[in-house]
Amino acid sequence: MAVGTVLITGGTGYIGSFTSLALLEHGYDVVIVDNLYNSSKVALDRIELICGRRPEFYKVDITDEEALSKVFEKHPSIDSVIHFAALKAVGESGEIPLEYYRVNVGGSISLLRAMSKNNVTNIVFSSSATVYGDATRFENMIPIPEHCPIGPTNTYGRTKAMIEDVITDHVKAQRSNLQKAGKPFEQWNGALLRYFNPCGAHPSGIMGEDPQGVPYNLLPLMGKVATGDREKLLVFGDDYPSRDGTAIRDYIHVVDLAKGHLVALNYLRENKPGVKAWNLGSGRGSTVYEMIKAFNAVIGRELKYEVVARRQGDVLDLTANPTLANEELKWKTEIPMEQACEDLWRWVNNNPQGYRQDPPPELLAA
Ligand code: NAD
Ligand code: WQD
Repeated sequence: MAVGTVLITGGTGYIGSFTSLALLEHGYDVVIVDNLYNSSKVALDRIELICGRRPEFYKVDITDEEALSKVFEKHPSIDSVIHFAALKAVGESGEIPLEYYRVNVGGSISLLRAMSKNNVTNIVFSSSATVYGDATRFENMIPIPEHCPIGPTNTYGRTKAMIEDVITDHVKAQRSNLQKAGKPFEQWNGALLRYFNPCGAHPSGIMGEDPQGVPYNLLPLMGKVATGDREKLLVFGDDYPSRDGTAIRDYIHVVDLAKGHLVALNYLRENKPGVKAWNLGSGRGSTVYEMIKAFNAVIGRELKYEVVARRQGDVLDLTANPTLANEELKWKTEIPMEQACEDLWRWVNNNPQGYRQDPPPELLAA
């Protein structure tokens, strides 16, 4: 018998597909809703190839409350949701803010309404370290603890901070209303998971990030330069007050991140804490130059790069203090960023078309 059934929104996307895999591997049944805006159903095949189990899939838009409700009705065993579905491009969020608020905030409200209607009471939410904005504006807030004041500096980050508030208010209200009515209330819980910089791919080389558009994150771009799809990497600023002048980030392997969702979900179901925020990061900060060096070591040659001006909105340092997740969730990262570079390279080098091509037979045989 399954440990439980979980609805995963955005489950064919990058982090959602790895989390679906982790849940299936740990005995959960998984039902995915995704509108395939930035992903492909091939992710389901790869999940099945790796673990021998396949999630149920529904092509549903999270802003469609009725369609979500129908999925819950069809699967009455669902008691929890992991909510990934969102638009996530920081630059684009400033150009089409209403779309970001509609999908990210509006979609989360539809989801919570459908959950409430169907008595689905645990939600694990994909928040982001971006909600902290520039934590160097405070003294002693690097590495960043959860009590660091929120202060997002872009529209995307503001949607994440708003959704955190929406979830917090809703869970509190549900608990209080049920308690007043003399009914069991503790089943309503929320985990706000603030991820730092997710990266890497499955060690098999058959599952990884496959965005529909142009990537803008550092590691996928390094992959594009290494495969020859791009001529060179642009390093956004080498005049930061860091050890080598480039900005510092906390890169976290997507397999570690997926496990973080599993343990957070288990924690909610077992401890019923109400709403809690946890940082998911390694606590280790790496500069852009350190990432290039690690990637060079993997590919055995030097990536071509050029230093250009700082990118607007970038901050000096986003390194997590993950102590709370270490202690409460008994979770910590296990895979170093060097391994993330190696896994990313195995994925992009063997699958230059991503999920639009079959993986090489030798990887399938392994
Ligand atoms: P992704 O784009 O690969 O996954 C998001 C999924 O949501 C996609 O499959 C997309 O098709 C789906 N989706 C988008 N709009 C939808 C809608 N209206 N209805 C249904 N499905 C919809 O992104 P990801 O990197 O896997 O990110 C997952 C979550 O984690 C997002 O909420 C993102 O904001 C958050 N996050 C990502 C990062 C990162 O660097 N990747 C960092 C912190 C937080
Ligand atoms: C990492 C570092 C860049 C590209 C973003 C979002 C954040 C979260 C994760 C969703 C920075 C430098 C990058 C390049 C470079 N996503 N860089 N040249 O900006 O830390 O975080 O993704 O929640 O919200 O803002 O990630 O990978 O874009 O950049 O020099 O071509 O690499 O300046 O220091 P970032 P990133």
